[in-house]
Amino acid sequence: MKFVIQYTHSMKDYREELMNNETVIVLDFGGQYNQLIARRVRECNVYCEVLPYKYPIEKIKAKNPKGIIFTGGPNSVYEKTSPLCTTEIFELGVPILGICYGIQAITYLLGGKVAPAGKREYGKTSIQLGESVLFEGMDKENQCWMSHTDQIFELPEGFEITASTQTCKVAAFMNEEKKIYGVQFHPEVEHTPDGTQMLHNFLYKVCGCKGDWEMASFAQETIQKLKTKIGEKKVLCALSGGVDSSVAAALLSKAVGNQLTCIFVDHGLLRKDEGDQVEKIFGQMPLNFVRVNCKDRFLTKLSGVTEPEAKRKIIGEEFIRVFEAEAKKIGAVDYLVQGTIYPDVIESGLGDSAVIKSHHNVGALPDYVDFKEIVEPLRDLFKDEVRKVGREVGLPDYLVNRQPFPGPGLAIRVIGDITEEKLDILREADAIFREELEKNHVEAHQYFAVLTGMRSVGVMGDGRTYDYTLALRAVTTSDFMTADWCRIPYDVLDRISVRIVNEVKHINRLVYDITSKPPATIEWE
Ligand code: XMP
Repeated sequence: MKFVIQYTHSMKDYREELMNNETVIVLDFGGQYNQLIARRVRECNVYCEVLPYKYPIEKIKAKNPKGIIFTGGPNSVYEKTSPLCTTEIFELGVPILGICYGIQAITYLLGGKVAPAGKREYGKTSIQLGESVLFEGMDKENQCWMSHTDQIFELPEGFEITASTQTCKVAAFMNEEKKIYGVQFHPEVEHTPDGTQMLHNFLYKVCGCKGDWEMASFAQETIQKLKTKIGEKKVLCALSGGVDSSVAAALLSKAVGNQLTCIFVDHGLLRKDEGDQVEKIFGQMPLNFVRVNCKDRFLTKLSGVTEPEAKRKIIGEEFIRVFEAEAKKIGAVDYLVQGTIYPDVIESGLGDSAVIKSHHNVGALPDYVDFKEIVEPLRDLFKDEVRKVGREVGLPDYLVNRQPFPGPGLAIRVIGDITEEKLDILREADAIFREELEKNHVEAHQYFAVLTGMRSVGVMGDGRTYDYTLALRAVTTSDFMTADWCRIPYDVLDRISVRIVNEVKHINRLVYDITSKPPATIEWE
């Protein structure tokens, strides 16, 4: 039977079925640090969801949130097209905290005045904290991170100022009776040293959260619920050998044992020796493990395709078709399990937010999928939460700490059209890069090479070369939602450059990517 899979549908049902934690809603007004707010809330052991600012009020109510946080955003509240939510949100009786644009939105919606400040306030700023439950236990002379051009000139009725800086009189406010709070600065970033404590105070002292979001209970509860959901049915798990799908497979294996078959698709877009390594690790485990070698099938479909989203969609669809074919061989498989995690969902476009990239397992899924349901037990988790679950269910460290490798593999690291020759060149160069970083103990959280489509002139021996330019990418990050480029020592870069140009045919130039995310992304496509 064919089923239409809609991601909002499966997300809603699945979350309702699997979880019952106290929930805080992070209402997204488009700011750069929004995921960080969600991360900080979860670090305080409170479950939270990021939802678009337009999310219907009835649905917000139905989630029975303990609190709502309005995020920052790049707009000015008084512009015609600015994102604003309904004022009904203030009537729910749910505590609200506005951050940056969020405090301005509260002000504007409740009748106060927001206007451009004389000059932009940006960076580390001294702040004078007043009396507020948010600031309990903190020094009055404190520090915060500011990033705003507008500011509040008139408070809405019933509000009082609770913090000021030299240039921003209303750096924080509250209406204690209505439990509405706001801060002009960013408590979620590290440059506000007491920021996490402020969020903690909001969650525990204002919203009354108890903190029931823990990875240990998540793992046990999820296993139990998967058991109930799947019953005696058969399940297929899409296993890539990466952290996410390995953790998903481990949960499923604990829940339904032998009813689970793990399918590892070798699409010919893996790194050097990766297919054999994954087979070695999982082939030894007490799992039904199947490696499907289907390089030709993927490369034929990708032939001549250069547009990154088109590549992603083709790969997303082919993955599903391979799983469907394998499911037919096994017979009567109802469920397909994927290791989708929360950043995949968000970057593939949540609600109104922009599609950055269609992650192969979310936005790049075809409309028709021949399974009764796609099950994604990690869909609500961030990467480091997934790692915690992995440890919790006993996966070895080398698996839990593996750096991410995207499902579309080297297809999105060969810029432009993909050929076997280019894949081979990239595989060799990438292996040298990774080997040198590891040998020299360079601390980066993800690193890889990218074969750019560009060729340039070089000189080797006495001859002219006209060959490819290879880009190196290495980043440090805690959640892969934002990232900084890694400061690799020059001598290590030098060694890498010499080795790659000498050892890999058809590369005559190397460049190092020194952009952070944002504005770039980690992968090039
Ligand atoms: P970007 O490039 O969006 O990547 O900054 C963020 C993280 O996600 C990984 N990534 C993917 N992982 N399927 C995946 O499983 C995908 O389609 C995909 N695209 C990017 C990327 O390697 C980085 O760790």
